[in-house]
Amino acid sequence: MRTFTQEVPNDGDLRDKSIPMSAPDITEDDIQAVVDVVRSGRLSLGPKTEEFEGLIAEYIEVKHAIAVSSGTSALHLIVKSLGIGPGDEVLVPSFTFISSVNAILYEGATPVFVDIEPDTYNLDPQDLEQKITGRTRAIVVVDVFGHPAEWDEILRIAKKHKLKVIDDSCEALGAEYKGIKVGQLGDAAAFAFYANKQMTTGEGGVIVTDNSEIARICRSMRNQGRGEMGAWLEHERLGYNYRITEMSAALGISQIGRIDELLAKRERVAQMYTDRLSTIGWAKPPAVRPGVRKTWFVYTIALDEGLSRDRLMEAMAKEGIPTRGYFSPVHLQSYICKHLGTHEGLLPVTESLARRIIALPFHGNLSEAEVERVVEALSKCRKNS
Ligand SMILES: Cc1ncc(COP(=O)(O)O)c(C=O)c1O
Repeated sequence: MRTFTQEVPNDGDLRDKSIPMSAPDITEDDIQAVVDVVRSGRLSLGPKTEEFEGLIAEYIEVKHAIAVSSGTSALHLIVKSLGIGPGDEVLVPSFTFISSVNAILYEGATPVFVDIEPDTYNLDPQDLEQKITGRTRAIVVVDVFGHPAEWDEILRIAKKHKLKVIDDSCEALGAEYKGIKVGQLGDAAAFAFYANKQMTTGEGGVIVTDNSEIARICRSMRNQGRGEMGAWLEHERLGYNYRITEMSAALGISQIGRIDELLAKRERVAQMYTDRLSTIGWAKPPAVRPGVRKTWFVYTIALDEGLSRDRLMEAMAKEGIPTRGYFSPVHLQSYICKHLGTHEGLLPVTESLARRIIALPFHGNLSEAEVERVVEALSKCRKNS
């Protein structure tokens, strides 16, 4: 089957067209599925959305799946459905994509940033517990880069302090913690399907939960606050247009149908990188803890302290190889500093790693020769930078 890999714009210029930073894995069947929907004339709120939701619920092994327009809208609806609002504090990592925090801010609640573990880059349970106050209502747990967080400890702390748990598993479809798929572990979870993710719907996301009440409210809020059986222009609550299109849902059905293959292809590329990078000495490949299944969102390396990431990235760009610094910590974004008074020095592990982590070009169809080229360029650039 022919596979198309279309380069995904990923913030910033892509100097090299031959090795993209990331790319979706699109087949003729994927394309046909979308075309069939367009021809059908049923473009929204139709059978494809329902079928996609059923397949996601079955895959994650949860009772409810509500497909929405993005991972960000999924997170927003979860926060809102839990009744989180002004005066509430929500614990969240700063080493994450901006949406994990914006979803809290949309509802007027206060994000409280927690530091991360140096090997998995996920929430540090010890720091988490220290940051709990009388106002803490919830934790946003991010399974960052597809590696599950330390769920046993986090759930123990949440239970002890009666906190709600929101799983931002936008980067972790298919990942498992001690044999349990992420998405089952919190009160509700969000997955995202932008074109650089493990599978894609173009734009799109999904809320998964076993809680019927959360599911009912989220379903209504994504569709302008309409009730299940109500008339088209009757609205029961404040809602949004966070619907997914039938075209996206059809692509999602096609992609989730070969999710095992998509994840295996990414795993193979990650393994090729890890094999070639294990001996370089000046940068660490990502850790994968025993007892977890990591599904690969990006492939990152952490440079040793003292090396200049910027110089290395510039040199790589000159070799025609795009790289990204991951992440730019949320607590140091200018609007967050202004709003919350956050500043450099608050989260030492996050700040150190954010200065040193580089994402390399990564998607499931990278060839051995391309991986080789990236690794050779890394060694050359390290010598010259
Ligand atoms: C951790 C995390 N949360 C949330 C999102 C938001 O997803 P979307 O871009 O679909 O809104 C992303 C997307 O990259 C993400 O990586």
